[in-house]
Amino acid sequence: MNEFAEVAALMPDPFRILWKEEVGSTNDELRSLAENGTREGLVLIAEKQTAGRGRRGAEWFSPAGEGLAFSILIKPNVPKDLWSRLSLAVGLAVAEAVEKFIPLAEIKWPNDVMVNDRKIAGILVEASRDFVVVGIGINVNSEAFPNGLAATSLAIESGGQIERAAVLLEVVKRISILCERLERGFEQTMDGVRQRCWLTGKDVRFTTSGIIKEGFVRGLGPAGELLVEVSGHLERIVQADEVRVLGF
Ligand code: BTN
Repeated sequence: MNEFAEVAALMPDPFRILWKEEVGSTNDELRSLAENGTREGLVLIAEKQTAGRGRRGAEWFSPAGEGLAFSILIKPNVPKDLWSRLSLAVGLAVAEAVEKFIPLAEIKWPNDVMVNDRKIAGILVEASRDFVVVGIGINVNSEAFPNGLAATSLAIESGGQIERAAVLLEVVKRISILCERLERGFEQTMDGVRQRCWLTGKDVRFTTSGIIKEGFVRGLGPAGELLVEVSGHLERIVQADEVRVLGF
């Protein structure tokens, strides 16, 4: 299983790795394994995705061998109305994992991971009736990105190549811890997200329920909602299409 074989034995229970040379999307592949009864904790990692997806149907750019593209099967042990917390928890897990290799990662609500105002990792959480597929793409050793993509990588930020397997292991360890805190201990997770909230103090434009709005981000509420001051009123945004920082 190549470079990932070494860390396979170090994964916390119940996490385990399945490596594939090429898939369409690791999220789709893992969903179909889950529907066929695969136990929770499977981490499906692909060297190459031919149809890697981002949120809102965007394509995910991940050249083979340079980044990490993987999906994790999770069955949250909390009531279903708390499952949405997983999305914020995974964002924090990835940010904390990235910080093992470079100084500071921020989180662009809800869970893009940013370094120096550029995206270093993206997360696609897809829930089914009784499981969640958490897809994670991390730019690890890429040295350049297509024009117009405000992206960066661990290699660009650290000035050296980074072992992809070591990054994967850190992410899984942090997810394993934060998944235990979706109910009790979630305030602590929210503190970590708040400390890294890239949007706080910025003017933004966003679309919610089909309406385009502009406002000033005050921070995050207790349930992880984005607090935006719009025309003098504080709005609690639970879900929004792309939030754009004005002037960026
Ligand atoms: C985003 O930033 O919009 C989310 C990007 C998520 C990309 C990852 S790569 C592994 C997994 N498989 C996919 O098809 N997408 C996610």
